[in-house]
Amino acid sequence: ANQLGSKEERTLALVKPDAVSKLGDILETLHAANLIVTKAKMTKLTWSQAVDFYVEHQSKPFFSNLVQFMTSGPVVAMELMGDGSIAAWRRLLGPTDPAVAGREARDSVRARFGTDGVQNAGHGSDSLAAAAREVEFFFPSTAGPGPSNTAQYTEC
Ligand code: TYD
Ligand code: MG
Repeated sequence: ANQLGSKEERTLALVKPDAVSKLGDILETLHAANLIVTKAKMTKLTWSQAVDFYVEHQSKPFFSNLVQFMTSGPVVAMELMGDGSIAAWRRLLGPTDPAVAGREARDSVRARFGTDGVQNAGHGSDSLAAAAREVEFFFPSTAGPGPSNTAQYTEC
């Protein structure tokens, strides 16, 4: 379920290559905000995967720089769950440009860990539809048999 405003609302949070070394700090930030990490993986995107993920921006002048950056090292993808998680995670990220974030949202992830307008530490889905698409992108539900990326608690 991913109903807007429900406690079960889910979103895709991506820690970009420049901030993977700050993952512990980012997890602390998520915990403090009552956002739960329900799935997680570390992966290195191929060029074609990064193009697919950011296809909505393909005609923008910054697109090739963005894809170059997103494939420059591993990323950490997480499905987050919590009340209003889509807006909550974007608020924690702060403004797209870390320089603006540094002025307007000093405690934000992008102010703390971002570098510039391309290397800006993280991504967050911006709508219910984007969240559904982006969670499915990193955690396909049609994966079939094999190890799951979702931690499961089992009684023992
Ligand atoms: P966008 O969806 O506008 O921002 P956000 O990540 O806050 O949703 O842009 C997607 C990414 O593209 C952004 O995180 C960094 C990159 N980008 C640039 O490199 N230059 C730019 O001028 C913009 C607007 C974005
Ligand atoms: Mg965006």
